[in-house]
Amino acid sequence: MVDHVEPGDGREIATRLASRLEEPLGVFAAPGRVNLIGEHTDYNAGLCLPIALPHATYTAVARRADDRITVASAQQDDRFEAALGEVSPGAVDGWAAYVAGVAWALREAGHELPGMDLVVDGRVPLGSGLSSSAALLCSAALAMCAAAGVDPDRRELVTATMRAESEVAGAPTGGLDQTAALLGEAGQALLIDFRDHTTRSVPWRPADAGLELLVVDTRASHAHSDGGYGSRREECETAARRLGVASLREADHDDLGRLDDGVLRRRVRHVVTEVARVSATVDALAGDDWRRVGELFTASHASMRDDFEISCAELDVVVETALGHGALGARMTGGGFGGSAIALVPTDRTEDVAGRVADAFADRGWGAPGLLPAPASPGARRVG
Ligand code: GLA
Repeated sequence: MVDHVEPGDGREIATRLASRLEEPLGVFAAPGRVNLIGEHTDYNAGLCLPIALPHATYTAVARRADDRITVASAQQDDRFEAALGEVSPGAVDGWAAYVAGVAWALREAGHELPGMDLVVDGRVPLGSGLSSSAALLCSAALAMCAAAGVDPDRRELVTATMRAESEVAGAPTGGLDQTAALLGEAGQALLIDFRDHTTRSVPWRPADAGLELLVVDTRASHAHSDGGYGSRREECETAARRLGVASLREADHDDLGRLDDGVLRRRVRHVVTEVARVSATVDALAGDDWRRVGELFTASHASMRDDFEISCAELDVVVETALGHGALGARMTGGGFGGSAIALVPTDRTEDVAGRVADAFADRGWGAPGLLPAPASPGARRVG
């Protein structure tokens, strides 16, 4: 069975959320993201190419007369409350740290925040590798800025939400997710260069070529996912140190021979070839060469499976099944060790491919995967 995961009606979600506050000031949405290609390259000063999803997290906000912040969720029973000045690294844990952490980071950046009541509701599946956490951080950031009456540059908000996630929620990530959530645009992919944090829009309209991007949430999460991410980062840092470069962005094929550790050599090979594949994908899109885009996706998957070693059986089954039934290309997306895979499929074959993937899961006794529609959608914005 194919389990369709719909984004919901944003206006309806916003109205319902606002009704939970006495004097709502507004409701703000920030999307999840799917990375088309460029995985584990962000913290290596490399290139990424994500799109924003139609699935978003919503935050409604009201000002308070005192200096307290309260956070409630449509999904969780517990409610967080503290004085703004009490929120700091180490002082908050759980999901509320993602929201309260943004208040801390904005104050650290010099913004004066009023007391606030916040209510959140999410439509990005949790643990899917589609950045529900960045969606939460970024919708909270827009809500808090509106309450404070400030409108900082989106790049400043990327920095603040990254600090919140790494320093208060305790999950250091590379910036891909927040950048996609804050700067994504409908009908466009976002080419991000983490050497200087510049971005460029790249038209992404597979439907015009008779194709659809399928996003399959395997709903698998392997126990070592957190530790695995951290250890990959450490290996990349070690390799850069041994090669004497500031980041692996500065490494090239010739450097591989200078590493005698086989594991580090494979990690570097993934990063070097993946950055090249992002550039090649952008070129292929400019030439409307979707076959080439598909090949690059599949090569990226092989690199993550064999060199970076972050795939898992569920992700490999999605990729192999999709390729076996007409996909032009397929790859896992996001941090790895579970989460989601994408496949570029001729529109008239999408139902067959989705059904085959669901059957392959059922045959192995795995739970049904989720299937998400994924037109490139707008980034974070006011919705109510
Ligand atoms: C996670 C992190 C990102 C990025 C990806 C891998 O999603 O949050 O910063 O490193 O993994 O590309």
